Amino acid sequence: MGVRGTRDMKEISFTIDGKKIKAAEGQNILFAALENGIYIPNLCAVREKLEPPASCRLCFVEVEGWIEPVTACTEPVKEGMVVHTKGKFSQRLARTAAELILASHPVDCGHCLKNRSCGLQIIAKHLGIKLRSKRLRRIERNLPIDDSLSIFTFDPNKCVLCGKCVWVCQEQLGIGAIGFTRRGFKRVVSTYQDTPLAESRCSQCGECVKVCPVGALTLKATEKPSFAKGG
Ligand code: FES
Repeated sequence: MGVRGTRDMKEISFTIDGKKIKAAEGQNILFAALENGIYIPNLCAVREKLEPPASCRLCFVEVEGWIEPVTACTEPVKEGMVVHTKGKFSQRLARTAAELILASHPVDCGHCLKNRSCGLQIIAKHLGIKLRSKRLRRIERNLPIDDSLSIFTFDPNKCVLCGKCVWVCQEQLGIGAIGFTRRGFKRVVSTYQDTPLAESRCSQCGECVKVCPVGALTLKATEKPSFAKGG
């Protein structure tokens, strides 16, 4: 449920966009909203992760009586709280965060296997922004694509650094084939010493492909493994 120590949690009531919602005390606003059919843009949040990385900065909302917008993935719900997901300031912050991600993301959707199910397309549509913004200069990363495995491909140029693949590989599966490396704009998901995935500890389980919200990790067309459902 995305709640810390869920058992015996008190249920509280709060409001999002005029809708009265019941949630376990301590649950964050983001998952309480999503579970009740209210979409808030997000990329880096993982329901099961106790410490949200809050790195994508897409999930800003406004709480009545609070001066500044807050990230919905880090803010626990409280009794009587009144949340707005479409406030002017929070939307402006979320749009800027999305445009910054898109400025270095290859917008070649027609040739991308994630076309129409891509997290960035959903977010851009929700926020009313174009995939190619005129406001920010485009930056191309031109990083090498890792095509060394038979089962999936990793294109770091399309990676949005949400960290879900790293989380599943390291914390859920304990494999640790991939992790974050470098800082700032050069930050990437990579293997130890940047070796091709085929030479890494990768077991080719494909769990990272299931959690990737964009087209950075994609199954090869010829592969039809059993895990291809869902995700
Ligand atoms: S989902 Fe909240 S900062 Fe990424």
